[in-house]
Amino acid sequence: MARLYINPEKKKGKIHKELYGHFSEHLGRCIYEGVYVGENSPIPNTNGMRNDVVEALKEMQIPVLRWPGGCFADEYHWKDGIGPKETRKRMVNTNWGGVVEDNSFGTHEYMELCRQLGCENYINGNVGSGTVQEMAEWVEYLTFDGISPMAELRKENGQEKPWQVDFFGVGNENWGCGGNMRPEFYADQYRRYQTYVKQHQEKKIYKIACGPNAADYEWTEKVMQIAGNFMDGLSLHYYTVPSGNWGQKGSATEFDEETYYRTLKKTLFMEELLDKHTAIMDRYDPEKRIGLIVDEWGTWYDVEPGTNPGFLYQQNTMRDAMVAAINLNLFNHRCDRVRMANIAQLVNVLQAVILTEGERMVKTPTYHVFEMFKHHQDAELLDSWLECSEIETKDGVIPQISESVSVNADGEVHITLANLSADKECPMEICLQEAAGKVRGEILTGEIHQMNTFTEPETVKKEAFTAFTVEGDVLKFTMPPCSVIHFAVSE
Ligand code: AHR
Repeated sequence: MARLYINPEKKKGKIHKELYGHFSEHLGRCIYEGVYVGENSPIPNTNGMRNDVVEALKEMQIPVLRWPGGCFADEYHWKDGIGPKETRKRMVNTNWGGVVEDNSFGTHEYMELCRQLGCENYINGNVGSGTVQEMAEWVEYLTFDGISPMAELRKENGQEKPWQVDFFGVGNENWGCGGNMRPEFYADQYRRYQTYVKQHQEKKIYKIACGPNAADYEWTEKVMQIAGNFMDGLSLHYYTVPSGNWGQKGSATEFDEETYYRTLKKTLFMEELLDKHTAIMDRYDPEKRIGLIVDEWGTWYDVEPGTNPGFLYQQNTMRDAMVAAINLNLFNHRCDRVRMANIAQLVNVLQAVILTEGERMVKTPTYHVFEMFKHHQDAELLDSWLECSEIETKDGVIPQISESVSVNADGEVHITLANLSADKECPMEICLQEAAGKVRGEILTGEIHQMNTFTEPETVKKEAFTAFTVEGDVLKFTMPPCSVIHFAVSE
């Protein structure tokens, strides 16, 4: 039996919609094929963007999309991706599979994609192999409205009015693929580069510094100390790798129960990471002005057999749905510091919400979790308290239930829960207190290996959940094993 207590009187801060963000890199079939097929493709598209994918992402309410990388960002020279497509440079994508990058998807196409999705943009600049001038000119090209060489160039390329840049990343993983820098060196580079990310537009550009790799607390300490005053956000990257061994990460679809629980245990490590990096940030920024930006998270398995190892294509099961629910609930609970999070990656790469094959598309279990959790976007986190049993696993104990609760501007309360047990249901009571009212429920559940394929795309899908009672202010129901439930409670 588990019990969740909600205190509707205690609001704990805004859950910025960007916690439900996504990441798209020039990697494998994420951008090309996954999103962008070109205007002449037989696959139905609008200005080259797949209609089916855009529609699904809008339904999921994608709030922000990071681009162009990843490791790709620190080798990306934005001028290669503008102007007539036939004259754009063809080059090798050195990070991801050594394939030809024809630059047919560049700045204009990315901005068009964000326009179609109705989402904010998050552009990641090149510090590792790019110049300060190049970064400054990109921002000028994107946002300057007066007379200047870059504004003229943009107009020549068909965009009269400047766009608005919402978020700008100054480098990516500069401790690794972005230049193998030491934190002191990067922090100084950050101070220099960000100086030239000029403010030509009315809305303030939110500048994001490269943060730590997982538990590299020294990186956070040094970068905050040296460059904290110059940033709005600091990134954090943490992937769930079931085996902990990057050489043999484990299969996305074939795993035993022990590996299932290990995956969840490793996901829950995110909690410690968020809290420890926050504690360091608190010392330099007690007002919590600087956001922690978890701009790469998700599962990372061995690629599907027979696929290009550099393309990072993996299937997605109910195990991934659990990983998504755990992380999103953790982010919600820490919304005072976590300002954005971007799952890696949008389509066909790592823990994708969508997979495509030619003209076919499937929504993964992870997609459905994002869709069910979308009600938390821009809502206020409510104080909640959980009593539940623990699951003993070979790698230590994990709680059986993951949860978070918010209230939106209309006073509707949204509760998201996951039962992490592979085989045990969980009777539950939720003490709604003053929040009690009309309840609607929806559920995603299945055996831990269940997934959606191109031949059976609807094996895992969200359904209405009505097997509950409301007695006074107590909501009673039983959560099936390996399930995610969303309740909406309104007057
Ligand atoms: O998401 C794949 C890669 O993982 C990104 O390019 C890089 O930033 C990280 O190491």
